[in-house]
Amino acid sequence: MVTKISEVIDRDRLERTSRGLARALSEAIGAGSLAEGSRLPPIREVALDLGLSPSTVSTAWRLLAQAGALRTDGRRGTVVMARRGPGPTRYRRALEHSSPFKLDLSTGVPDAALLPDLSAALNTLHRGWTSGSYLDDPVVPGLVEALAADWPYPTDDFVIVDGAMDALDQVATHLLRYGDRVIVENPSFPPLLDLLEALGVRHVGVDVDEEGLVPAQFASALAERPRAVVLQPRAQNPTGVSMSAQRARVLADLVGGQAVMVIEDDSAGAVAAAEPVSLGRWIPSQTVHVRSFSKSHGPDLRLAALSGPADVLAALRERRFLGQGWSSRLLQAVLVDLLVRPTTRRQVERARATYASRRRQLVAALEREGVSTMGNDGLNLWLPVHDETAALIALASRGIGAAAGTPFLTKGPSTPHLRITAGLVERDFATVAYELANAARARSHAGPR
Ligand SMILES: Cc1ncc(COP(=O)(O)O)c(C=O)c1O
Repeated sequence: MVTKISEVIDRDRLERTSRGLARALSEAIGAGSLAEGSRLPPIREVALDLGLSPSTVSTAWRLLAQAGALRTDGRRGTVVMARRGPGPTRYRRALEHSSPFKLDLSTGVPDAALLPDLSAALNTLHRGWTSGSYLDDPVVPGLVEALAADWPYPTDDFVIVDGAMDALDQVATHLLRYGDRVIVENPSFPPLLDLLEALGVRHVGVDVDEEGLVPAQFASALAERPRAVVLQPRAQNPTGVSMSAQRARVLADLVGGQAVMVIEDDSAGAVAAAEPVSLGRWIPSQTVHVRSFSKSHGPDLRLAALSGPADVLAALRERRFLGQGWSSRLLQAVLVDLLVRPTTRRQVERARATYASRRRQLVAALEREGVSTMGNDGLNLWLPVHDETAALIALASRGIGAAAGTPFLTKGPSTPHLRITAGLVERDFATVAYELANAARARSHAGPR
């Protein structure tokens, strides 16, 4: 039992609100000054100790309980829970099985052979191309026009960042506060869930069907007063669902006018077969739209573009000046060249068609094996299985790597799945489908459940 909270937090530096107290206590838990299992004094005593009202303390305890840092446990009172995991735990778990396989379909990465050749673009970077100054425009000439040409809604205001994850990190850090709720897709992208958890933000999962977030569930989740929604408009990872324009409109109608920001992560970008789509077409003042160039042009370009309400973009630019300032203009210049050069555009079109054809052939072969999957776009396939571990083991024994489905889930109970990077299957579709179907039927040694 901790006798006094003032012994573990600095009373003088305490922001005297429930959020301030929640933050201070969570820092004390993070620093180890409050060990897992410690029992906290009753709310009235804490209030007296810190000179706060009991309702401030009680709200802080509720925020911490929602974020999983405290548990109120009947007779035992309020107890400190285990410290949050050491960062990207879901991300690591999703890739845990990616040791050397004959065919590693666990990774979600693009096929290096389908990425465009950079040499012509690099050759344009002659000496003197960059002024070497800190004061240049953070976006290189030509990029805005190239982006606006196929952005899903009219805008010419973009922030360029170091990839979609960097965008999500910056936008989430700016918009979200400890204890906030955010609607996410079920299943969703594990690093996003890790990011939200690291910020102490609760995620509320909403199922995805063939057209995107399920409207009825989305409407119920909105009633829980989320601060934001994070969705993938195209080639959703892991399901491969691309949101239809009709669904985008329905979702925009439901969320429009509420104090909720829609954050769209178009990570597949130009390798998605579907046309660009965004709720921003109807609610631009509530939409942040992010497009990554990792899958289409190369992960090591480390570039993504984002559009959004002017005040959000201004805040991101201001904050960025205190950090790295801008994304390398050399890399941006390479990207502009890649976006406009006809040969590169043809290479990216070929990559898009190749991914679509690989996915289609694997899905058709799976159908012939009696296994149905959802979605029809991008690099990944969400394979329903009887038992996740048994399926992973069955595949591993045949030299095939797959990603465990559990880290992608945002609510339970759910049918077990594996994520299969279909975009990396180049040939032998019938054989791969046969192995996947066998794995999908595999049962653990404990017998049928
Ligand atoms: C849904 C999703 N978001 C973000 C990313 C990361 O993109 P970037 O390389 O632009 O950071 C990925 C990469 O696989 C992804 O699948």
